[in-house]
Amino acid sequence: MKIDGRAYRSIWREASGEVRIIDQRWLPHELRIATLSTREDFATAIREMWVRGAPLIGATAAYGVAVQMARDPSDAALHETWQVLHATRPTAINLKWALDEMTRVLAPRPPLERAAAAFARAAEICDEDVEINRRIGLHGLEIIREIARRKGGARVNVLTHCNAGWPATVDWGTATSPIYHAVEAGIDLHVFVDETRPRNQGAQLTSWELNSHGVSHDLIVDNAGGHLMQHGEVDLVIVGTDRTTARGDVCNKIGTYLKALAARANDVPFYVALPSPTIDWKVSDGIREIPIEERHAEEVTHVQGRDPEGRIVSVQISPDGTPARNPAFDVTPAELVTGLITERGICAATPQAMAAMFPDLAPR
Ligand code: MRU
Repeated sequence: MKIDGRAYRSIWREASGEVRIIDQRWLPHELRIATLSTREDFATAIREMWVRGAPLIGATAAYGVAVQMARDPSDAALHETWQVLHATRPTAINLKWALDEMTRVLAPRPPLERAAAAFARAAEICDEDVEINRRIGLHGLEIIREIARRKGGARVNVLTHCNAGWPATVDWGTATSPIYHAVEAGIDLHVFVDETRPRNQGAQLTSWELNSHGVSHDLIVDNAGGHLMQHGEVDLVIVGTDRTTARGDVCNKIGTYLKALAARANDVPFYVALPSPTIDWKVSDGIREIPIEERHAEEVTHVQGRDPEGRIVSVQISPDGTPARNPAFDVTPAELVTGLITERGICAATPQAMAAMFPDLAPR
């Protein structure tokens, strides 16, 4: 997607061999590009959320393996790199998916061939992500087109939570891809962007990318969605996911569950944009089986923003020493999900429909 008219991906490899990312900690106020040179750089970038979003976490881990293989392609290094990178963030399954995929490709090869094979597979994982998201966009477009038709061409209002946009993926985004495709198709569309406390991915990233692409939107506080739904101002919700279980439970950014409850209470369709690497076929009950990341209390007690002098600062919003809890994700039970928008088409959030959509991936 574009920043100031220039096309970017969120991660890329330069001709010189260096791996670069957009350091998302400073967006939307500053565009800073970082070079990741060591395995530890990659681990820090994922843990400290220089990169974030399930698909991008996976792609970054893949390049982290490749960079380490160029230094030390031994079996021991391959194994240790899996462990080090896997320990960075617990919830998004794309991290494990990408690390397992790199191991599958690299382990059978002689060490001297591993670095080249690793960089090639990491680049493929990135390209595959872009294609998956493009396809999610085309399938999601049909849902939006149908709503626009039913409304006689009147504006279609979409609500989204967190940032499941292009910075959360290699390109296109998942939840935003149907939005971009609908706008391109000439559909009159508006997006309500949940600010998404505590880290404000909606306020900082989703509003930024929609603004860059001229998509009509309003930033709303997290608590406004239910009210807008009650007043008929939301036609559908589209969110991303960090891990979806084999029976269709959806783990996503904290607060997603409350939006799903409000959507159900108000008969608003609730869709999840789901790339297949985000399905954890090994788990079924999302509430009991998915590890939920607990992040630092300071993300709750403080807020980052830009001061009048243009400096990016963090300010405290609660009394000194206030204890805080910071679960970063929640689980929306499958029965609250209207449909899963995958790269192969739209399916119900049921074990049968998911297995029928992905017979090659679902365990028999
Ligand atoms: O903590 P984050 O910013 O990594 O959380 C991101 C989300 O919850 C996204 O909705 C999810 O990863 C899907 S991204 C296409």
